[in-house]
Amino acid sequence: MLDVRNLQKTYTGRNRNVEALRNLTFHIDAGELVCLVGPSGCGKTTLLKCMAGLLTPTRGEVMLDGRPVSGPPPGMAVVFQEYGRSLFAWMNVRDNVALPLRRKKLGKARERELVEHALEVVGLADAHHAHPWQLSGGMQQRVAIARAVAFEPKVLLMDEPFAAVDAQTRAELEDLIRRLWHELGVTVLFVTHDIDEAVYLGQRTIILSASPTVVQEDLTIDLPDERDQLHTRSSTRFAELRSHVYEQIQRAKHHNGDTERTGTADPSDDLALQNSEP
Ligand SMILES: Nc1ncnc2c1ncn2[C@@H]1O[C@H](COP(=O)(O)OP(=O)(O)OP(=O)(O)O)[C@@H](O)[C@H]1O
Ligand SMILES: [Mg+2]
Repeated sequence: MLDVRNLQKTYTGRNRNVEALRNLTFHIDAGELVCLVGPSGCGKTTLLKCMAGLLTPTRGEVMLDGRPVSGPPPGMAVVFQEYGRSLFAWMNVRDNVALPLRRKKLGKARERELVEHALEVVGLADAHHAHPWQLSGGMQQRVAIARAVAFEPKVLLMDEPFAAVDAQTRAELEDLIRRLWHELGVTVLFVTHDIDEAVYLGQRTIILSASPTVVQEDLTIDLPDERDQLHTRSSTRFAELRSHVYEQIQRAKHHNGDTERTGTADPSDDLALQNSEP
């Protein structure tokens, strides 16, 4: 369904060029849930923006259902990393969630039904009339997720959507994503800094190298489809996969399209990797 082919992106500025993506090729089948991890600054957001038709790649292409993406595709929803900026301060929660539905012209009753359901599943059934600035960071993030859910997309791209929520809510939202994925049959690409999350959530984990960025590994997550926070996370296989991803990310920080160095990383790098999001 989603085909990323030899994707390259170099930002050109007046004084310097930044090669964000060197050469990425991967494929996501319809209905798959794929996680993507990589060091901070390796180009994950750039990749998502290219996939969503918001940035033009320097070379290569993104194909959706066999057609090249050249602008925002109609059946795609994106939850941005900078969720605060994607909500409109002057609109209440309900209107923020309903906004992308306007284009679909579904009629008032159906629109209200979708908005109410979406706010309910993210646990914000009481917040319809609040404005974003009256909500906590985690609540705002959930509004952004509700907006994507209400849209009933065929493809959902999420850029570190849980970075601003507490651990408890995060676990609930992870399970929510899996439930929605099962119920709606949506194809999901989920970017995360969190290694546990990258293993827990998906069927595959794509690990990106440091910049200039290439795909370092495309790992199958062979955990049973039935997952729950307690049992899955305490299983032996989960621990093995987690260690593997951890090691690969250590390597990723020293391995890029230019070099093939491996070595022991400074442990403080790990903290930077995991905590660099606001
Ligand atoms: N608009 C832009 N103009 C110039 N350079 C940019 C622009 N956006 C991103 N970059 C650069 O491209 C590289 C990749 O950035 P990007 O935001 O895609 O990384 P990321 O993997 O999402 O990082 P993080 O994990 O911190 O969110 C970085 O070196 C960044 O400075
Ligand atoms: Mg990013």
